[in-house]
Amino acid sequence: MKLLVTGGCGFIGSNFILHMLNKYKNCKIINLDKLTYAGNSNNLSSLKNNSNYRFVKGDICDKKLVNKLIKKIDTIVHFAAESHVDRSILKADEFVKTNVLGTFTLLVAALRNGKKRFHHISTDEVFGDLGNKGKFSEKTSYNPHSAYSASKAGSDHLVRAYFHTHNLPITISNCSNNFGPYQFPEKFIPLAITNIIEGRKIPIYGKGLNIRDWIYVDDHNEAIDMIIHKGMIGETYCIGGSSEIKNIDLARLILKHFKLGDEMIEYVSDRKGHDFRYAINSTKIKKELGWKPRHNFKAGLKKTINWYKKNQDWWFPLKKRVIKNITR
Ligand SMILES: NC(=O)c1ccc[n+]([C@@H]2O[C@H](COP(=O)([O-])OP(=O)(O)OC[C@H]3O[C@@H](n4cnc5c(N)ncnc54)[C@H](O)[C@@H]3O)[C@@H](O)[C@H]2O)c1
Repeated sequence: MKLLVTGGCGFIGSNFILHMLNKYKNCKIINLDKLTYAGNSNNLSSLKNNSNYRFVKGDICDKKLVNKLIKKIDTIVHFAAESHVDRSILKADEFVKTNVLGTFTLLVAALRNGKKRFHHISTDEVFGDLGNKGKFSEKTSYNPHSAYSASKAGSDHLVRAYFHTHNLPITISNCSNNFGPYQFPEKFIPLAITNIIEGRKIPIYGKGLNIRDWIYVDDHNEAIDMIIHKGMIGETYCIGGSSEIKNIDLARLILKHFKLGDEMIEYVSDRKGHDFRYAINSTKIKKELGWKPRHNFKAGLKKTINWYKKNQDWWFPLKKRVIKNITR
């Protein structure tokens, strides 16, 4: 198995690379990452002497580089993206470039170099807002509401188009909100944990009633591993943790861990176009591939809180660099 992993220095990608190299002794990985503000090659410093791992700093929009690397591998696992909704509200240029044009560049190169197997990592945010009832599934229509989700939706459509028009062997996964080690401290859970460690309050959008369906990052990566190995070509798989919780209740769970209460919550004006609820029906991947999440939400949260407590040297400099841009 020779993989080209894009965006492998980000949160989910670095956990994926560690999972694969730990599990498969015959797996070779080239990690192509531009090292944007969200990428951190230190996440993979433990692989410094691993001959199965190679890091290449570069852009997925760079046709020449992408074509050169794709010749050396058999499967592309595509994580690279601009991924933070709040940033896409302020400025969306890079979202369109990386998420749409970058994915297109990879697809063309995969096609031209012998129809390489292509797995595309996407999000449940492409489906839009659920309201109080129901869950997203593979049959849900697309209805993205932010430049982030719209650009991810565009990339999903391109990936499907390359399957239908050119028979490129693709699969797509749409996953719910991830949490765990190495998540950039601008995202809700690490921002909340690190704020508390720093003695700051947890900012909550609106009244904190928005609901997300959280999944521990290793469970997501096990699902991707299964899709690469056993997924049906041309198919989409929805992946979720079945752990729906309101933002305010999640903040209170984190505060409880630190023996603190509502005095550490700060309500801020709501995010523009804020989707109310996301939740995933994962029946298809459970039935067809035998996947199920192994982490209970509260146990995963405790593990994550302990990781951020122990790894302040990892997140503190990142937070210091970006804090002025953090709006929540
Ligand atoms: N985090 C979540 O909760 C979540 C949920 C579902 C799906 N996803 C998807 O999973 C993927 C990974 O998300 P994440 O949270 O790990 O993101 P992240 O922001 O932590 O990491 C993104 C990585 O991509 C790299 N990158 C960005 N632009 C690039 C470019 N042009 N060329 C090469 N590398 C580039 C960055 O340097 C970074 O290492 C994304 O596609 C995202 O849409 C994320």
